[in-house]
Amino acid sequence: MKILDQQPEDSGSALSYAGLIEKIEILRSTLRWSSRLERADIEKLLKQASSLRDEVMQMSHKERFVQAAAVEPLRGEQSRGARRQALLARSFIFEGTFGDNPKLLEALEISEKAAPTDLPVLIDGESGTGKELMAKVIHANGSRADKPFISVNCGAIPDNLLESELFGHRKGAFTGATNDRKGKFESAHTGTIFLDEIGELPLTGQVKLLRVLEAHEIQRVGSDEPIGVDTRIVAATNRNLRKLSEQGTFREDLFYRLSVIHVTLPPLRERRDEISLLIQYFGDEAAGVLKRRPVRITPKLRDFLLTYSYPGNIRELRNVMYRISCLAGDIADVDHLPSDMRPSLPVASLIPGVANETANGAASVTNLLSLSDAKRAASDEAEKAFLQRGLQEVGGTVAELARRVDMNRSHLQMLLKKHGLHSKDFRRQHAQANARKDETEANDETQ
Ligand SMILES: Nc1ncnc2c1ncn2[C@@H]1O[C@H](COP(=O)(O)OP(=O)(O)OP(=O)(O)O)[C@@H](O)[C@H]1O
Ligand SMILES: [Mg+2]
Repeated sequence: MKILDQQPEDSGSALSYAGLIEKIEILRSTLRWSSRLERADIEKLLKQASSLRDEVMQMSHKERFVQAAAVEPLRGEQSRGARRQALLARSFIFEGTFGDNPKLLEALEISEKAAPTDLPVLIDGESGTGKELMAKVIHANGSRADKPFISVNCGAIPDNLLESELFGHRKGAFTGATNDRKGKFESAHTGTIFLDEIGELPLTGQVKLLRVLEAHEIQRVGSDEPIGVDTRIVAATNRNLRKLSEQGTFREDLFYRLSVIHVTLPPLRERRDEISLLIQYFGDEAAGVLKRRPVRITPKLRDFLLTYSYPGNIRELRNVMYRISCLAGDIADVDHLPSDMRPSLPVASLIPGVANETANGAASVTNLLSLSDAKRAASDEAEKAFLQRGLQEVGGTVAELARRVDMNRSHLQMLLKKHGLHSKDFRRQHAQANARKDETEANDETQ
């Protein structure tokens, strides 16, 4: 209850509201498990605490709005440089974060304020928007900068290994546990733990994480001994946790505990004003790495890069710049783009028998871009169907699929990401199918 004993902070700053919200959350968790109160009283107090939390959240939003309004005169085209300069003047560490879009600057400014505190931070944004980079920024600007930064991908660990991965295990705790092993939380002691893809954490893992947030201690699997951990938590997700909590797949209390400070990174298509700068930045970076002169870009390619939708966001743009810097001579053109990036029509319009129908009902091929586009789109579709079928066959276990198709696991993960496939969904389907099968078998046996 260390946090409840602290003196109230300077009231009025967005951070102190965040502190208040965290305290209310701790109060709610304590209340929920109180053994001395009647259930009805607990419910009543929980309700009061919830409306208090909502009020504080509203005040905090209003406060931020007022602050934003106060600095509004500075936010013109010119003030971008000034805002970045101001961060530099305060010795802010960017960790390679580049760009001056107002939304990105806002994310950096929030991170700057959050960094010196131990408050949990939730970063959300689409894949490749720089969530992990922002987590590193928060770590690098805080007092734990010279301590470990440990990253855990909650979506990549099989459910049965999750607890041991996070909290460690004792020798003999389960088959295969041949030695005592430290978990990620212990490794991150005194530093920061980055819980990536937190929305994929199963409910059992969520309960355990909540306990760590409350008690600041963990227990290794197979051990009763509590081990104190002093770890700053930064979590990230590309899913809408609020929606998941409404649907019951993410605990609401955990959502509030993790999102005391909430940073949202906008997709690249919403910060197009930065693309031109980023092309230059990554072009120079790639030239440095590849020890060549920065590549020049044809107007056609530039137009394409400035208007493309970037489903893979900054990662995609960075990869493209490295690719064209590697493949092109002095000048790069659209031919140097990866095949899945070049303009293509929906595959349904390209496959015989499902071709697009024109207004008079006749299938048209004249509006296809080119034969190679058609081939590429069909090949993409085949790749996706292959992965979907494979995941179904192995019940959503990526490692097993990688083994069966003899493919490197991280390459497979990248392909899944490219097609927006989540192994979790297949695991869930598999579990549901098994449950239905068990039910049918049980019914058969009773008949
Ligand atoms: N503003 C930026 N300036 C420079 N590089 C950036 C920026 N944002 C992201 N990057 C680079 O883009 C790549 C993707 O960033 P990162 O891994 O942080 O994204 P992410 O949101 O965690 O993605 P995912 O959801 O797929 O895990 C990294 O190479 C990162 O260094
Ligand atoms: Mg990431």
